[in-house]
Amino acid sequence: MDISNIYDFVSSKQVFAFKEELMHNQELLEEKTGKGRDFLGWLNLPSSTTDKELEAINQVAADLRSKSDVVVVVGIGGSYLGSKAAIEALGNSFSNILLDKENPIVLFAGQNICEDYHKELLELLDNRSYSIVVISKSGTTTEPAVAFRLLKQHLENKVGKAEASQRIVAITDKSKGALRKLADQEGYRTFVISDDIGGRYSVLTSVGLLPIAIAGFSINDLINGAKDAERNTGINVRFDENPACIYAAARNALYRKGKNVEIMVNYTPKLHFLTEWWKQLYGESEGKENKGIFPAGVDFTSDLHSMGQYIQEGERIIFETVLSVGKPLRILTIPNDPANLDQLNFLSGKRYSEVNRMAEQGTILAHIDGGVPNIKITIPELTPYWLGYTMYFFERACALSGYTLNVNPFDQPGVEEYKKNMFALLGKQRCRLVWRVVE
Ligand code: PA5
Repeated sequence: MDISNIYDFVSSKQVFAFKEELMHNQELLEEKTGKGRDFLGWLNLPSSTTDKELEAINQVAADLRSKSDVVVVVGIGGSYLGSKAAIEALGNSFSNILLDKENPIVLFAGQNICEDYHKELLELLDNRSYSIVVISKSGTTTEPAVAFRLLKQHLENKVGKAEASQRIVAITDKSKGALRKLADQEGYRTFVISDDIGGRYSVLTSVGLLPIAIAGFSINDLINGAKDAERNTGINVRFDENPACIYAAARNALYRKGKNVEIMVNYTPKLHFLTEWWKQLYGESEGKENKGIFPAGVDFTSDLHSMGQYIQEGERIIFETVLSVGKPLRILTIPNDPANLDQLNFLSGKRYSEVNRMAEQGTILAHIDGGVPNIKITIPELTPYWLGYTMYFFERACALSGYTLNVNPFDQPGVEEYKKNMFALLGKQRCRLVWRVVE
């Protein structure tokens, strides 16, 4: 991580002023004495996940892989974004349209309530051999519950009830919720989400790991990366060598200077959903009690042709965190063209990634000039190891940063409000519209 490009806007003294507070926050986490202390199961998850647990996940993944062209993962929020982020980051950009005989296509449902989306999904599944992984910690969330009702019926009609129950895996609470009851009744294989891990901190549990393994990526490497991040961000690491502390300190120093919006920037579409995952993690953890940095995201260079203008010259309430990828997994050079009608022969023979890197460096310089501080985080390569490392790093930094804002980074009371109104409007018994008209 490189924070040198924030020093035109805050001093290193202002960043390092958070040292004591952040080291105290590390203690609150390790000693489990801070706000939301009952939700710290994620903290030592990488180092406490056993080979046996990974093997159990890998076995179920292998079984679903062997019998399915498509696996539909049903879930929303923390029960969706982590695996979606990892699969997009690690996979071929066109994996959903490639007929890859080795790996099933992983599709998602229940992350919206769109009629067209779900009807089109069912139409596609009419002619495919498929399985379902349904994920809901509470077991009662409306979006995935409705989608699962649809998919369960569709699968049972297609392959019969007995075979369907072999093709459905549920990930939910050990004893509570409608999904647990249903899974037990129908005899589905299940994995348990532990009580002390909230949805947005659950990517390194079966919630994220099973879909990632089904898609064909090494969850053992992912956990190994997370394990190293756990060690490198732990309480015994000095503040100035601890990337989670430095990131938390830098963003809080900027926030105190009126930089209320953090834009996560990527230069590869493969990271679009990592940004979505990060937005949920930070938005739900910090946005409460009328406080919190607003997490936003852009995909460059595409969005330089849309949001670039605002970032360069709009309100100066922004800072950027650039997720830079060290090296691509493939090689592509720009060809020479003897006619040179497009005048681009000065790029001949250069790697695509070099052009992208120059776009990145040029943009960072322009944005700093325009008054936008920049933090840069480099992911060496898009591999399971580095993804696991990155995700754990962001989780730890988020918890530390949330404590600096003096909020509980592990609850999400505000998410309930829309649900009450939706149920009231749909006529559910005992539900009343919550609506305050401000005159
Ligand atoms: O982070 C969270 O807790 C939420 O985003 C949940 O993951 C989301 O609401 C889905 O909840 P559940 O897994 O209970 O269906």
